[in-house]
Amino acid sequence: METNAPKRRDSKKSLRVKVISLGNAEVGKSCIIKRYCEKRFVPKYLATIGIDYGVTKVQVRDREIKVNIFDMAGHPFFYEVRNEFYKDSQGVLLVYDVGLRDSFDALDSWLGEMKQEMGSQANMDSIVFIVCANKVDLTKRRVVDEGEGRLWAESRGFHYFETSAQSGEGINEMFQAFFSSITDMCENGGKRPVAEVSVGFTKEQADTIRRIRNSKDSWDMLGVKPGATREEVNKAYRKLAVLLHPDKCVAPGSEDAFKAVVNARTSLLKNIK
Ligand code: GTP
Ligand code: MG
Repeated sequence: METNAPKRRDSKKSLRVKVISLGNAEVGKSCIIKRYCEKRFVPKYLATIGIDYGVTKVQVRDREIKVNIFDMAGHPFFYEVRNEFYKDSQGVLLVYDVGLRDSFDALDSWLGEMKQEMGSQANMDSIVFIVCANKVDLTKRRVVDEGEGRLWAESRGFHYFETSAQSGEGINEMFQAFFSSITDMCENGGKRPVAEVSVGFTKEQADTIRRIRNSKDSWDMLGVKPGATREEVNKAYRKLAVLLHPDKCVAPGSEDAFKAVVNARTSLLKNIK
């Protein structure tokens, strides 16, 4: 049977783990790793060819962890090289560029590619995923906000960090959380600890917030047909208000979604006799 359980070395307290980086080309995977391991940033883009490999040692509580990092190339051209390296990973850095929506939308297909190579969802469940919303230093070109990124990550039981390989923001915190979670998972027999996957909000809440963000007008936001009656609008509003009220819903972006729903209802009722 296949397992992602890490290889233990002789000493009881040391662990060897494998992590990989995933995400579109040019989102900053190599720079994030370089910033952490070498404490520097290279502005010039040097595309990873196939895979880059490196090793680093970290201390988590009383354990020494030897981390094997496989930095994948994001370009589709390298699929044949990448697909060899998914297996036996304990951690995945899933990176997108907050200034490129395509790179955020592509996260699902990166998970898809990985799942295909891993063979089953069960194998994916024993891996720690960290989502890096990278290049947050470039504030003017940002198009994917924190709420949207956090919701995507946390609704899947993944960690979410805002990072900049350029300034170093979030990088150490992100890697510390990453390695600490991988250690917890290894100590938990290779299963992601339950606390990490229970996020305090439901899939229905997450899906509703996402739907509200993407709605094209107030009718669409309330989920009623254009021309709906006051009663229909109020009924739809009440249902959403119960689901998303900030006292009840802790999902990222719920407060904004709630406000948007209140505004949509007000503007629709103004025009319905
Ligand atoms: P592939 O290896 O092709 O998959 O790309 P990659 O994801 O490894 O990207 P890489 O780390 O090579 O970075 C791509 C470009 O983005 C480079 O020009 C980097 O200097 C730049 N870059 C990476 N991270 C940041 C960041 O946080 N802020 C800014 N401003 N630029 C960044
Ligand atoms: Mg790279």
